[in-house]
Amino acid sequence: MRIILLGAPGAGKGTQAQFLMNKFGIPQISTGDMLRAAIKEGTPLGLEAKKVMDAGQLVSDDLIIGLVKERIAKADCENGFLLDGFPRTIPQADAMKENGISVDYCLEFDVPDEVIVDRMAGRRVHPASGRVYHIVYNPPKIDGKDDETGDELVIRDDDQPETVRKRLGVYHEQTQPLVAYYKAEAEAGNTQFATIDGTQPVDKVSQKLAEILA
Ligand code: AP5
Ligand code: ZN
Repeated sequence: MRIILLGAPGAGKGTQAQFLMNKFGIPQISTGDMLRAAIKEGTPLGLEAKKVMDAGQLVSDDLIIGLVKERIAKADCENGFLLDGFPRTIPQADAMKENGISVDYCLEFDVPDEVIVDRMAGRRVHPASGRVYHIVYNPPKIDGKDDETGDELVIRDDDQPETVRKRLGVYHEQTQPLVAYYKAEAEAGNTQFATIDGTQPVDKVSQKLAEILA
């Protein structure tokens, strides 16, 4: 199964990707996680991406498209994948089409901006696994530690309220047009499209996704 998770920063894409990955045994392809890993390793890609990400802007389409193409070609994607944070612009969606990469579902998470600002303020992440927590809404079993490894959780550099607002602006301008794009794709019979109320608690959202994908 090939799935796109579409939604604003903090809409819950990464959180639900963990659920879907376990349920369907398909890998999560998070372009954000891939870029953060490159930053940590200090690769040329990471150095280029860091400034852009800290400013809440998008990394160039060419760079991201190359990254995703390479990732999808790996053996673990044979039975499908979860795209988390890609495509994020019309040219990225067009590039998928041009490369013959179709998807079975595009799932949009609908969450108002006010809810998102509150979520980001309490987000804690485990970079090595992609697991995501919230100090109130989805707390780890032990304060500040990842449930499975016990590693220290961290705050993302781009989760400052000012950067979050910038990212939301970029989302509305450059990514939201993909909602109409994939609705049109669904009408043409090329994929299925569904909008999920992302303001529900984490397990309710998971339940809804399981129903849609059953
Ligand atoms: P990326 O890492 O993709 O960030 P994003 O899309 O901004 O999304 P987030 O990871 O912030 O949110 P999420 O939807 O995964 O929410 P989460 O589950 O964590 O991208 C980062 C940057 O990389 C971009 O700004 C850009 O610069 C660059 N980049 C990445 N991809 C790119 C691309 N394709 N093209 C160009 N540039 C690219 O949840 C958030 C919080 O809410 C957590 O604390 C969580 O516990 C909590 N939460 C989740 N669900 C619920 C719920 N139902 N109820 C209550 N709390 C919840
Ligand atoms: Zn994420």
